[in-house]
Amino acid sequence: MITTKLTTLLSLLTVTFHPIPIHAAIPFSQITNRDNGNSCPPLPRGDVIAPSYQLYPENADWDPVLCRVWLGAVWNATAVRYNPYTNTVESILEFPGISHTGSLHIGGVAWDPYFNKVKGEEGKTRHVISILVNSARPWATDGRDITGERGLIKYDVGRGEVLWEVNVTDVSRDRYGGFQDIERDRWGRTYIVGTWPGTILRVGRDGHGLREWLVPDPLPAIPQKGYSGLAVVRETGGDTMLAVDGDGRLYRFDLREDQDRGTPVNVPIRPEVLYNDTDAIYLPPMYGGRVLLVASLFSGIQVLRSKDRSWKTAEYLGTIPIPTGRLYERANVVVASVQMGSSSVFMVLGWNDPLVSGIVPGNRTQFPFPNITAKIDALLKI
Ligand SMILES: *[C@@H]1O[C@H](CO)[C@@H](O)[C@H](O)[C@H]1NC(C)=O
Ligand SMILES: *[C@@H]1O[C@H](CO)[C@@H](O)[C@H](O)[C@H]1NC(C)=O
Ligand SMILES: *[C@@H]1O[C@H](CO)[C@@H](O)[C@H](O)[C@H]1NC(C)=O
Ligand SMILES: *[C@@H]1O[C@H](CO)[C@@H](O)[C@H](O)[C@H]1NC(C)=O
Ligand SMILES: *[C@@H]1O[C@H](CO)[C@@H](O)[C@H](O)[C@H]1NC(C)=O
Repeated sequence: MITTKLTTLLSLLTVTFHPIPIHAAIPFSQITNRDNGNSCPPLPRGDVIAPSYQLYPENADWDPVLCRVWLGAVWNATAVRYNPYTNTVESILEFPGISHTGSLHIGGVAWDPYFNKVKGEEGKTRHVISILVNSARPWATDGRDITGERGLIKYDVGRGEVLWEVNVTDVSRDRYGGFQDIERDRWGRTYIVGTWPGTILRVGRDGHGLREWLVPDPLPAIPQKGYSGLAVVRETGGDTMLAVDGDGRLYRFDLREDQDRGTPVNVPIRPEVLYNDTDAIYLPPMYGGRVLLVASLFSGIQVLRSKDRSWKTAEYLGTIPIPTGRLYERANVVVASVQMGSSSVFMVLGWNDPLVSGIVPGNRTQFPFPNITAKIDALLKI
């Protein structure tokens, strides 16, 4: 998540949390059952440049069923379905009381690979994405103000409607905040990571049982920047989740069904190169769970590897910086990375554009996503 000093952007509106998509999914016909990231056709060659006014992406996830990428548009607080084959925005999901308020962000957006077991609908498959809504205040104040609404929305793409939503504030009660990323496990549960201080919450697949899975006890009086990203290693069965901490250290969690609390186990990074400006982490499906990409806002994408995919230790291979040149003049941070199609991985960039009065910050209409695959592959040869 972009840390910003734009306190003027904070509107202290009281928001209601009843998301109803306004212009939701466009007609949705054939869903073919592809279950990994590697069966979509390759993209046409070249960097992806999304022509989308005020997209300002914060996080991204590839949807291998639709072969589209979902993006969280942070300032507008919308979720965007983008087609990189035709270079078009296919739908923008807006939520009343959330989108365009300025007081809330939408950051984490993720396709849900395990959402095929809704209670009472056993055997049916739904096409679901998770959307994380979070208060803008922690980001504007570097964690000094951790108050505000947050929620998790499960959105049924096929039906174009909200499946369920949970009010995360019911549990967090303004004691910690900065929620910014989500993961899903093979039991259909969703994990929400918070950054001030580092916390992980978990909720069951039907939206019930939201609980504190990892919350420091006692909570510090002044929150330090903690966990910023989560990634489940699906290729080895999905029992392992990785999280990166605010000091750059990497942790491993066992997700097996009986784990009611998360127990972090340190994953030593060799050589120990640590960045304290971490954001989202990602295991691109094309590398089969062996390569972890850590977005470090000002430094670039760190490439870590676990050859046997156990993630007991991690090799640090190098860092891919934000590209230079005219297109990237105002790209000041890297917030995430994402695979699109079967053989390309891209950086997701944050932009330092001149402010526009009102609540959204910039006038940008073109959002480049640089292809970093060749750079990753070069580091993997080391
Ligand atoms: C991205 O780079 C990789 C490696 O050079 C290449 O194979 C792939 O085709 C590129 N993707 C696009 C969309 O250009
Ligand atoms: C952001 O909001 C503006 C209106 O304020 C709209 O024109 C634009 O399409 C929106 N973009 C996204 C990606 O939500
Ligand atoms: C969410 O929960 C918080 C704390 O319980 C409450 O103050 C707030 O009104 C709730 N929001 C909605 C929209 O129900
Ligand atoms: C993060 O690291 C940078 C460079 O090493 C250092 O200047 C800065 O003080 C550190 N920030 C925190 C909050 O530790
Ligand atoms: C953004 O675009 C609007 C409409 O064209 C214009 O009035 C405004 O000056 C622009 N703001 C900036 C900061 O470029």
